[in-house]
Amino acid sequence: MLEQAPIRSEASETARHAHWLFFRKWVQSPLSVASIAPSSPDLSKAMAASLPDRDGIVVELGGGTGAVTQALLAQGLPLERIVIIERDAHFCAFLERRFPGIRVLQGDAGSLKFLLRGANVALPVSAVISGLPFVSMPNRLQVRLLHQAFAVTGGKGPFIQFSYSPLSPLKRCVRDRMGVIEQCTQQVWRNLPPAKVWCFYGAGIKASPGPRPRLLLEGQSQTG
Ligand SMILES: C[S@@+](CC[C@H](N)C(=O)[O-])C[C@H]1O[C@@H](n2cnc3c(N)ncnc32)[C@H](O)[C@@H]1O
Repeated sequence: MLEQAPIRSEASETARHAHWLFFRKWVQSPLSVASIAPSSPDLSKAMAASLPDRDGIVVELGGGTGAVTQALLAQGLPLERIVIIERDAHFCAFLERRFPGIRVLQGDAGSLKFLLRGANVALPVSAVISGLPFVSMPNRLQVRLLHQAFAVTGGKGPFIQFSYSPLSPLKRCVRDRMGVIEQCTQQVWRNLPPAKVWCFYGAGIKASPGPRPRLLLEGQSQTG
């Protein structure tokens, strides 16, 4: 009797390719990719859950292999409401294959406004959700990114960012200079390494993350 070959599901094939590509890219440019593996499903879900209940486009920065994109779609966000900005050409091609029809703009997130205008994306967008290595960015880049993110969201934000650091990834001097309001909305343990999700709002905006995110108070934690 013939032995049956194990059948690999399409999802597990995609996950395998995603991990392999991610690892290769990390070896090539560890500072830019900043992680040896894509964000876990728990972290991606926590990021998506921090979106405001608002219509409009969601801009994802640093899409990688699409872990967060997948969570956005799973949460019910239609494909047409997602625009991904990713610098690396191989990641862009992977994203386009994984999510046929999704808008992927290859470029530097530091040129966010320019890229969105060039692609005729309707402004303001509802939120900017970022997988960029924010914590290691120089101050001027953090300022530039936040300025643009608040501009394209019509001054409202949020700019949603995950970080492996126990502290806010936003430098204190940048936060104070720009008057940014920050909230840690989720602690996710099931990710390697564990991570936190942060929401940043422009000056004068009352942080209102809506009913979905669970706000963490000082010293509190949540199992991811
Ligand atoms: C930590 S990975 C996150 C990937 C994915 N969002 C996830 O959670 O698995 C960082 C991603 O940001 C991209 N990236 C880094 N700097 C960038 C920049 N300045 N502009 C656009 N993409 C950038 C990298 O190529 C990589 O795909």
